[in-house]
This record gives sequence, structure tokens and C-alpha cells, in this order.
Amino acid sequence: MMKKEKKVILGIETSCDETAAAVVQKISLDRKTTGFQILSNVIISQVRTHKKYGGIVPEVAARKHIKNILPVIDMAIQQAQRKPADLDGIAVTYGPGLITSLLVGVEVARTLSYVWKKPLIGVDHIRAHIFAVLLPHAEEAFSSVNIPFPAVALVVSGGHTELFVIRRKWKVAKIGQTLDDASGEAFDKVAKMLNLGFPGGPVVSQMAEKGDPEKYPFPRPMMYSGNFLFSFSGLKTAVLYTIQKLTAKRTLSQQMKRDICAGFQQAVVDVLTRKTLQAAKCYGARSIILGGGVAANRLLRSTLAKGAADQGVEFFVPDLRLCTDNGAMIAAAGFFEKSVLPIRLTADPQLSREGER
Ligand code: KG4
Ligand code: ZN
Repeated sequence: MMKKEKKVILGIETSCDETAAAVVQKISLDRKTTGFQILSNVIISQVRTHKKYGGIVPEVAARKHIKNILPVIDMAIQQAQRKPADLDGIAVTYGPGLITSLLVGVEVARTLSYVWKKPLIGVDHIRAHIFAVLLPHAEEAFSSVNIPFPAVALVVSGGHTELFVIRRKWKVAKIGQTLDDASGEAFDKVAKMLNLGFPGGPVVSQMAEKGDPEKYPFPRPMMYSGNFLFSFSGLKTAVLYTIQKLTAKRTLSQQMKRDICAGFQQAVVDVLTRKTLQAAKCYGARSIILGGGVAANRLLRSTLAKGAADQGVEFFVPDLRLCTDNGAMIAAAGFFEKSVLPIRLTADPQLSREGER
């Protein structure tokens, strides 16, 4: 019998507007059972700062990361009741994201790796959103998730909308992406048009719950395009035209706003669900994974779960709080990547993996 093995990784995330660090423990009970435990998960969100501007201001984000990064790391290690010496590695997001934001996390991780003499692991932020699915949901201390491969993964966030096929041993290959706006970005822009604030996803989906999704039928861009590409800028424009037409006559009532949100959300969910289910069919997937900030959307979670069940495919989605950016998913992804020399790791804002790894 294999000896019980424990490994601990510190994950650092600063690609956008959350300064986050977490300590995650991987426990291998035997050859077949490996699981994860979140020992700490600290996030300082800059949402309140960027709300004033209606979107993220890169320069401001970077300054805030610089101010917060060391206290956040310190807190993560303390809450995990570990010492730097206990760490088996330091994982950090090195792309994609805002270059000035990424640089803060990468430089701090490189320095700590030197000083603490710990292996450094560069993590792709988009892939990390997929690995979040392996982490325990809030109440459980330890979870061992077995994903049947091949799997199809949909990552939907503020900057990305991408489809992947994942084969045995976590070989991830991209099969599709958005040609213009990301789905989260579309939520944020619709919220802005309706003066609902930033970020748009949570507030638009909340409004949508009391709206009629059929009142304003919006287009489903590229739904039947026969490939795995997406486009959301046309939908965004359709929402804008509808708002302009309505406001030419009167100011929008709360109910009109709810109906617009519901119609828009339904259109996004329909496209994302159909394409993901198509991809699952096409690649003979045995499971579907949903990840990224927009995966916090309840309608998307339930619609895709139902579609997967109808197709006889297992469905996996991270706990709600682990869908949006966090350090725990970076640490989790770190267990699947090789370490690099600190001198070799550079931030790559355009990082996007085409081939299989
Ligand atoms: O993954 P994430 O935290 O950051 C990026 O990597 O971009 O995703 C943030 C995005 C934002 O666009 C936000 O509006 C969206 O996720 N989002 C949602 C919901 N919660 C967050 N979109 C739709 N419904 C939600 N409930
Ligand atoms: Zn993200």
C-alpha cells in the first residue's frame, strides 16, 4: 500500500482586480484516491475602488496589488497554520491578464521562491478556472473528485470565453473561443448601459430573476455556426438598440430593466449551453466542466447541468465562491504543472495555449 502523502502549495493570483493568496493541501490516500483541502483562501477585492470608474483601471489595480500582496500572502500562510518552510511550492498566475497586475504577483512569487528556496510554478489563469472544480465545496474539508475523461470544459470569465477538450492525465486542448467580447464582459457592458454598476454579472442575473426572458427576444449569435466559436458583441449592440428605442419614448421602468436583463441572460446561456453540449457530443465527452466568473450564474449552472444529464454526461462546476478569481484555484492548478527556475518566469498578458499539453 502507498504511504499517505501530503503536499502543500501556496497559490498567488493578481491577474485582474483581486489580490488573492491561498494554501491548498493535496492528500494522496492511495494510488487511486487523491483529493484536496483548502487550508486558507484570502481575497482582497478591488471592486469598490473600480466601481467609481465603471470598470477596471489597470494603473490603479496594480498600485492596490502592490499595497496588498504581502499582507494577503502573510494572512494566507497564517490562516493555514503553516510556515513558509512547510510549503512544497509557490504557484502564481503568469497570464493571461493585465500586464501591470500580473507583474506584481509574478515578481513577488519569484522573490519569495528565491528567499524561501521553494520551487516556483507558473500557472495559466484560464486553466486554473478548470482546476477549481477539484476543490472541496465550502462545507467539506476534503474532497476527492474523479473526472471521467474525455471532458469538455467551458471557461467563461470577464476576459475569456473558451472551450477545451481534456483528455486523460489532464491533457488540455483549446477547441474554441470568442471572436470578440467575452461573456462576462457582455454582462458588464449591459449592466453599464442600464446604470446597474460594476461588475455586471451578479446584478444583471439578480435583475433577470424577476424578468420575463421572452419580452425582448435578443439574437443568439453563432448558435448554429457549426463550430465552437462565440461572438457576443452583436448581442451587446442588440441590447443597446433596444434600450435606445425604449428610452426615446420614456425612461426605463425597473420592470423593463429586469426584462432586458432576463432576455439578455437567456440568450447568453442558450448559446453557451448549446455549444458546450455540441462539443461534448463531437468529442465523445464523458463529462462537462464549467468554470470562470460567469459560472457563478445560476441559470447557466442549472441549464448546463440539465443539458448534460439529458445527454448522459456528468457535470462538474466549482463551488460558487471558487468560480470568480481566487488563489485556491491557482494552487490547485500548481499541482499539475512543472516548476520553473525563477529567472525563467515572466508575465505573459496574452498567454493562451493553443496546442495540447
Ligand atoms: O473569472 P473572473 O472572476 O475574472 C476574470 O478572470 O475575468 O470573472 C469575472 C466576470 C465578470 O465579468 C463578472 O461580471 C462575471 O464574471 N460574473 C457573472 C456572475 N458573477 C460574476 N456573470 C454572470 N452571472 C453571475 N452571477
Ligand atoms: Zn478569472
